[in-house]
Amino acid sequence: MKPSTVFDCNILQLPRVYNPAGSITAVNSNKELPFDIQRVYYLFDVPGGEGRGGHAHKKLEQLIVAASGSFDIIIDDGNVKRTFHLSRPYMGLYMPSGLWRELDNFSSGSICLVLASTTYDEADYIRDYTEFKEWK
Ligand code: TYD
Repeated sequence: MKPSTVFDCNILQLPRVYNPAGSITAVNSNKELPFDIQRVYYLFDVPGGEGRGGHAHKKLEQLIVAASGSFDIIIDDGNVKRTFHLSRPYMGLYMPSGLWRELDNFSSGSICLVLASTTYDEADYIRDYTEFKEWK
């Protein structure tokens, strides 16, 4: 399979059911997303301005959503870097496997919601950037 690049990441506009009393966004496996959702996790209590260290996944695909607040995601395929700013609960960043990512500039009280294609597996992580470049 061709190695993934930063240009394989897309911002997906998710359906939004507007209501002045509160809107709803629903995400379905294989409909809005090109994979089956096997896990949902969320990052919260991140102090304002904080960032999270980088890593890559060998197989995991993800949709990342700023369910509340905002943050930046810096994606790196070993050659090119792209930065995405997420700040709307109805926009998601689709990330295929095989890309280095860092999260930065969290607004205080933000929630980073992740829909993931597999259950948690530490063996799927590459946590060392040099190792990532070699693996790529
Ligand atoms: P990790 O994905 O390494 O986040 P970051 O790179 O931003 O620190 O997750 C941090 C820890 O949380 C990880 O070492 C184990 C735990 N964890 C789980 O137990 N299950 C999960 O689904 C995730 C994402 C993390």
